[in-house]
Amino acid sequence: MWGDPASFSSPMRAGGEPGEDLPPPWGARLSAPTEPCASFLRRQSLHRLMYHDTVLETLPPAAAPDAAGRTRDVGVCIVGSGFSGLGMAISLLRDGVDDFVVLERAGDVGGTWRDNTYPGCACDVPSHLYSFSFEPNPTWTRTFSPQPEIQRYLRHCAEKYRVLPHIRFHSEVRSARWDGAAQRWMVETPGARFSARVLIAATGALSDPSIPDIPGLQSFQGKVFHSARWDHDYDLRGKRVAVVGTGASAIQFVPRIQPLVAQLTLFQRTPAWIMPHPDRALTAWERRVYRTLPALQLAMRAGIYWGRETFVIGFLRNRMTLATRIARRHLRAQVPDPELRRKLRPDYTVGCKRILISDDFYPALQRPNVEVVTDGIREVRPNAIVSSDGAEREVDAIIFGTGFQVTDMPVASRIRRGDGATLAETWQGSPQAYMGTAVSGFPNFFLMLGPNTGLGHTSQVFMIESQITYVSGALRHMRSAGLGEIEVRPQVQAAYNAEVQQRLQGTVWNSGGCRSWYLDRNGRNSTLWPGFTWAFRQRTRHFRAGDYLLRPRRSTDLLGQRTGTSAASPAS
Ligand SMILES: Cc1cc2nc3c(=O)[nH]c(=O)nc-3n(C[C@H](O)[C@H](O)[C@H](O)COP(=O)(O)OP(=O)(O)OC[C@H]3O[C@@H](n4cnc5c(N)ncnc54)[C@H](O)[C@@H]3O)c2cc1C
Ligand SMILES: NC(=O)c1ccc[n+]([C@@H]2O[C@H](COP(=O)([O-])OP(=O)(O)OC[C@H]3O[C@@H](n4cnc5c(N)ncnc54)[C@H](OP(=O)(O)O)[C@@H]3O)[C@@H](O)[C@H]2O)c1
Repeated sequence: MWGDPASFSSPMRAGGEPGEDLPPPWGARLSAPTEPCASFLRRQSLHRLMYHDTVLETLPPAAAPDAAGRTRDVGVCIVGSGFSGLGMAISLLRDGVDDFVVLERAGDVGGTWRDNTYPGCACDVPSHLYSFSFEPNPTWTRTFSPQPEIQRYLRHCAEKYRVLPHIRFHSEVRSARWDGAAQRWMVETPGARFSARVLIAATGALSDPSIPDIPGLQSFQGKVFHSARWDHDYDLRGKRVAVVGTGASAIQFVPRIQPLVAQLTLFQRTPAWIMPHPDRALTAWERRVYRTLPALQLAMRAGIYWGRETFVIGFLRNRMTLATRIARRHLRAQVPDPELRRKLRPDYTVGCKRILISDDFYPALQRPNVEVVTDGIREVRPNAIVSSDGAEREVDAIIFGTGFQVTDMPVASRIRRGDGATLAETWQGSPQAYMGTAVSGFPNFFLMLGPNTGLGHTSQVFMIESQITYVSGALRHMRSAGLGEIEVRPQVQAAYNAEVQQRLQGTVWNSGGCRSWYLDRNGRNSTLWPGFTWAFRQRTRHFRAGDYLLRPRRSTDLLGQRTGTSAASPAS
């Protein structure tokens, strides 16, 4: 999409691919034990050490907080450093804009792939496609890469494209408010204040864990954690563990922890449709070929992309016959017990919730130390969970695989337009945007993976790159036309959303007979893009100024260029 990365204005580090055959960049300072790990759990602690604590030590220090309490002026403020934030930052650098800061609440880049370190975590879209188009990685070790490799890939991108000096870690955005007089966003973090011409929220749709409000949970004396905040210091061996949820996360970690625990009680509210997993190791020969012939990997990527694009037709027409046949056969083949099979068979159309892929989830459920409970949870007691039939099961730990706050993401309560209303108040429970990116009433503000940009069939990174192109076009237009403010016209946003909602009618997501996180609290599908992703790419390829209210700049500073007055480089 962005052409030859060598033409980027930001010079690249020589060499360096994110493969496992390279020493990790932090290797010299890794003080973790080097002898082979004795157990899975020890490996997991080492893993955590490598991908969280130790990495953090080696990151360049963020700019020191402004002791004088001054506000720092920046052209662009990006919030978040996952695929979206990093990709956006790389695009700014390519455009010659270096007057920007990336605010990240955690201590490392990676977003989803930094936070989800649960055993078995991996992507479910082939890695050749689930990566940036401008940075193919010939060294993936599997067709569906495990989380540590994706996290390492994102660190590699941040380093190679020199984004790291722009990032301020441990900088959670607590509030951002539009100041109409100054035509700037006033952004607050615990350590510093920023005044930004443009605000880009790349805070992720699946970033803030959701833990259900179960009566008595506070009284529980054992260990409690969420899959996206896995506690690798807690030794699960020999414990009685309750897992709540049977979504994409749970089906990955349940088979990994089942052999360790004494008893695993799986609380299933709704069963998922599960397909066979086509994952396999990529051979050393394949990796060598991809390294020598990058065009072959790109061809592979294109093949996977177009193959998956065809999947969406069934979702749109609510015709999932083939998928249903495959999923049913998988269930029949893997679960001989008719009683368990009955519990695990969904009663909604395949695709209404995210389709899962696994070869080891059903077998794990049939081990003697596993019980699948389909009665709801009535309450939690200090050392037990009581199900709705009154049965009490003693447990030492509860692991929530209960997903994320998607349509009620916390950051929406922190972003305020000029009159003080938050994004959450504006949305009233049903997020809306233009191209999933711009929101009427919120000038100079862009959202990555905003409303109706989610997918059920292919890579989110494709949508992210489309949005990056769009936002970059908007910023270029602001610079060239000397604009101080752009804001999507309300009628343009309304027409776009009416069209999206109309196209969602009759899709499997809206009519498949399930209740999923795709639907917001008003029952509206505020999450998914109802169509081919190439169509979204077409629409976001060019920024159309006519869709926006354009206001001239009142002050003299140019977006992306320093005034030399109060501006201070985030990298300084
Ligand atoms: C376990 C898991 C597996 C997935 N697998 C796939 C897959 O196989 N294929 C696929 O297409 N998609 C997958 N997804 C979706 C995935 O989230 C996206 O593909 C992508 O990683 C999102 O990137 P992002 O940068 O937009 O958001 P994130 O990766 O969520 O990054 C958001 C960043 O913003 C930061 N942040 C949030 N709020 C603030 C704040 N107030 N102040 C400062 N920083 C803040 C967060 O700390 C985080 O670093 C998966 C999601 C999960 C949870
Ligand atoms: N690449 C991958 O393979 C992968 C891995 C993990 C996550 N992801 C992405 O992240 C998304 C979220 O996945 P996730 O598994 O973390 O969450 P999820 O898909 O939202 O699943 C949450 C699970 O918790 C259950 N649950 C929620 N509240 C409950 C309650 N009060 N009592 C009992 N059960 C409850 C849900 O049941 P109901 O269905 O009844 O609501 C569901 O089974 C996925 O859809 C996918 O997009 C991808």
